[in-house]
Amino acid sequence: MKTREELAAEQTAFWNGPGGQGWLAAYARIERSIAPFSEAVLAAAAAQPGERAIDVGCGTGATTAALARAVGPAGHVLGVDISQPLLEAARAQLLANATFALGDAAVQPFDALSVDLLFSRFGVMFFADPVTAFRNLRSALKPTGRLVFLCWRTPQENPWGLVPFRAAQPFLPPIPRPGPEDPGQYSFGDRSRVERILGEAGFGTPSFEAVDRPIFMGASVAEVVEGSGRFGPLARAFAEATPAAREQAQAAIARALEPHAGADGVRLPGACWLVRAAAQPG
Ligand SMILES: C[S@@+](CC[C@H](N)C(=O)[O-])C[C@H]1O[C@@H](n2cnc3c(N)ncnc32)[C@H](O)[C@@H]1O
Repeated sequence: MKTREELAAEQTAFWNGPGGQGWLAAYARIERSIAPFSEAVLAAAAAQPGERAIDVGCGTGATTAALARAVGPAGHVLGVDISQPLLEAARAQLLANATFALGDAAVQPFDALSVDLLFSRFGVMFFADPVTAFRNLRSALKPTGRLVFLCWRTPQENPWGLVPFRAAQPFLPPIPRPGPEDPGQYSFGDRSRVERILGEAGFGTPSFEAVDRPIFMGASVAEVVEGSGRFGPLARAFAEATPAAREQAQAAIARALEPHAGADGVRLPGACWLVRAAAQPG
């Protein structure tokens, strides 16, 4: 079993290396794919003029910008992320009322009791030690503050990820299954785990709203297949596969996606938890 330090180092290397590069390269498509989920989590956050917020795992800062608009000139948003290349893109937006910090949310020093809102769109599932990270984040929250974030549910509930994965897997080198406590895209799929983590970190009892939306995966099957081995759980196996195996895997993905292609692109269902919790228990 890997230590927490090893898991944290892996995440830092991934988001500063292939993960960050893949995210940047596919960013326009990703933003379109997750737009319906973004609307839901930003509406739930309901940032108000004058509020202070932290955008956790802010990436390129699209949601930081949306929050900055909502809190206005009297408010402020801090975007925190471990990825230097993604933060460079975030900083390039030159937001007047937002700042960005390069750091692990688990250890980043925050001003105590200073913010109204802890927010994240898909940025909280990668902590090596989630209880420590959420405890640290909670220390920044005012007693009246709130936590609002979006995370993926289980792989089985997310065919946009599962369909290509299952199609390609038989042709690729073995893909290690993440352990139940390992960080990763689907690590918050089990709501009882999230409840336990937030409870141990000192938050109030969280609420879970299922948000289900179709995910735009690309304009055509060929386009999705082209990008499929570059990012996500298949990336490493694709990189290690022989050219022949890669071709077989791509052909299998194309066959699996064909039924989901329409005139306006390829779409498959996606499923998230919209999680809300108060700073204080009870
Ligand atoms: C799936 S991306 C989401 C990015 C952004 N929230 C968005 O929706 O565009 C996950 C982000 O979490 C960041 N991240 C992962 N582990 C982190 C940690 N321990 N502390 C801060 N950020 C982290 C990654 O660098 C990456 O930018």
